[in-house]
Amino acid sequence: MSENISVGVVGCGYWGPNLIRNFDRLTGARVAAICDLTKERLEHVANLYSDAIPYTDFDKMLAEADLDAVVVATPVKTHHSLAKAALMAGKHTLVEKPMASSTAECDELISLAEARGLTLMVGNTFLYSEPIHRIKEIIEMGDIGEVLYINSQRLNLGLFQKDINVAWDLAPHDISIILHLLGETPDVVNCQGNAHITPGIEDITNMSLSFGTHRFASIQSSWLEPRKVRQMTIVGSRRMVVYDDLEPREKIRVYDVRVERPPHYDTFGEFHYSYHYGDCYIPYIQQEEPLQVLCKHFLHCVETGEKPVSCGRQGAELVRILEACSESLASGGAPVQFAAAPGVVSPFEGGGLKVVGSE
Ligand SMILES: NC(=O)c1ccc[n+]([C@@H]2O[C@H](COP(=O)([O-])OP(=O)(O)OC[C@H]3O[C@@H](n4cnc5c(N)ncnc54)[C@H](O)[C@@H]3O)[C@@H](O)[C@H]2O)c1
Repeated sequence: MSENISVGVVGCGYWGPNLIRNFDRLTGARVAAICDLTKERLEHVANLYSDAIPYTDFDKMLAEADLDAVVVATPVKTHHSLAKAALMAGKHTLVEKPMASSTAECDELISLAEARGLTLMVGNTFLYSEPIHRIKEIIEMGDIGEVLYINSQRLNLGLFQKDINVAWDLAPHDISIILHLLGETPDVVNCQGNAHITPGIEDITNMSLSFGTHRFASIQSSWLEPRKVRQMTIVGSRRMVVYDDLEPREKIRVYDVRVERPPHYDTFGEFHYSYHYGDCYIPYIQQEEPLQVLCKHFLHCVETGEKPVSCGRQGAELVRILEACSESLASGGAPVQFAAAPGVVSPFEGGGLKVVGSE
């Protein structure tokens, strides 16, 4: 492999240019080629990155450009075929979230990468964000007690997708954060929703994840909301954390609040819940673009052969949960049992961000 890892990016729509910008800025990498079916988009991005050779044909890019790695930032339904072609051509591959349209597709990509000794990573951006890193630390330090419940909202007007519903589009972020914070996989998934604009494609969904440890998480996703909301509440037995990703600096607040039941009481008159209201503190968050950390981590894994934090197995686990959501949606929100294969440890167990943060 050359000193500079040579990267080709396919997909120059909304998200692809952010990946191109970040790889372009990193020492140790060069964006050697870019690809998009739409000539107009390709020309626009090619004008900004004149060293990258533009292609409208992905197979031609794979055959002609001297690439070490490929980044797939196209619509979800194309992830599997593009990532498969990249892996078959011997390229380390970073695929945007969600990894593919089905667990079977994800499993095939994982096997291909393993058989060829290639890095396969999924673009779960929030696993590389400093606020999530800090919240994980706060939980692990025992500062908020035992995590009881997580509530997450990701709402805004659009961007409407044509091939996937709002749960597949937005909830992968929330699911990846929740599974990372709890270090476990849910065993029951419920999802309700409605398609108001495009027939058959839900634009609002409410999802619940129940965990074997009696913990619970709810995720509200919407493309039909006047305000942009990116909020998560982590309710602990001693304290509670509110994470607002739209806050420019003070993204995390830790509230010293809790409710306690008296351990003993003899008469109803003696029974009182005890509400504790204490201080609120705002941990300092180092400002670093999560996508920059993600791209750096991908290059590190390509160079060293280390397993990425957001590895293919995590990507497949998220897709398995999204499939369970679709099944539940189709039956009006009925619970779908989500048993992990016996003996299989959740790919979200254990940390990961510490490794990334220290890079
Ligand atoms: N990690 C994040 O925070 C984040 C944020 C936004 C989007 N995404 C993901 O990025 C991916 C792309 O999303 P987007 O919003 O940029 O979509 P988009 O529709 O804006 O752009 C996709 C681009 O891919 C091109 N394309 C499609 N098929 C192609 C093919 N076979 N060969 C070459 N080009 C092809 C299209 O012409 C289009 O320009 C999705 O998987 C999405 O979930 C991730």
